[in-house]
Amino acid sequence: MLERPRRLRRSAGLRALTREVSLAPHHFIHPIFVHEEEGETPIATMPGVSRHPVAGAVTQAREALSLGILSVILFGIPSQKDPQGSGAYAEGGVIQRAAAAIKAEVPGVTVIADTCLCEYTDHGHCGPLCQTGEGDWTVDNDAALELLARTAVSQARAGADVVAPSAMMDGQVGAIRSALDAAGFEHVPVMAYAVKYASAYYGPFRDAAGSAPSVGNRASYQMDPAGGEREALREARLDAEQGADFLMVKPALAYLDMLRALRENFDLPLVAYNVSGEYSLIKAAAQAGYMDERRTVLETLTGMRRAGADAIITYHALDAARWLREEG
Ligand code: PBG
Ligand code: ZN
Repeated sequence: MLERPRRLRRSAGLRALTREVSLAPHHFIHPIFVHEEEGETPIATMPGVSRHPVAGAVTQAREALSLGILSVILFGIPSQKDPQGSGAYAEGGVIQRAAAAIKAEVPGVTVIADTCLCEYTDHGHCGPLCQTGEGDWTVDNDAALELLARTAVSQARAGADVVAPSAMMDGQVGAIRSALDAAGFEHVPVMAYAVKYASAYYGPFRDAAGSAPSVGNRASYQMDPAGGEREALREARLDAEQGADFLMVKPALAYLDMLRALRENFDLPLVAYNVSGEYSLIKAAAQAGYMDERRTVLETLTGMRRAGADAIITYHALDAARWLREEG
């Protein structure tokens, strides 16, 4: 007898009934760039995305919540940078002020703070630099740990609900966990950028955040795109052992296999980061009239859910939530 899978595709009702994967606004985390200047500055390489002052970040959080998006992730763009990235852990730092303002005015939104130093260092690396020999330098892992831990504690003190270390320093999750616990923030979860590749797809973000390294690149701390599943599982295991509450894979599209691998090997919630370059590819193609933006975005985000992501950080969040609402 001929098997007829088409029977279940005959109507919208049957297709909805047999769908295995769901996509809804509460799966999204809306990224917000917060700067210390007045007014909103559009980001040229990310059409539709801007840097916002603190008040604008509050408006963004309110808009996300009104669309059913319950979480935002904050990236700070300070007006002053220095070799130690001191703006990242400053009492009145830009992320700290934005987190406090959002929690005061839109308390229903879960505020996630990106915990890194590259937006705050004048050289653009994710930790302070140290000499390793004649004219040779690297990012000082253990010095970075101390600064990242200070940053996470100051973010929690400002009201961040979750901290998300993205520097790819060895031991960063453990250092942050101990510092949070010692400061009375045992209840604050760590969302670990566990499997994070040295990717060309971060190009537009670095433009947005002004965080491109001024010397060298991030290949000595972010993962090699040609690394495989063993390396990814090891990175994820180390973060899980150090107390990570969420694991993240970043970027998402070229690394869906790693999302699947982590899904099958860990019992922690899994986050996919649909990064800036992935966003800009679709935007550019849509603006050129090559692709249908709405269908492409929803299909792409569905693919990340199908690969195993519980949540997705995406610059399409507001648009996608609107489209999903229209589809009812
Ligand atoms: C900071 C950080 C980066 C991104 C998120 N956190 C940039 C980088 O590692 O260079 C990239 C996000 C994106 O491209 O959307 N470490
Ligand atoms: Zn960084």
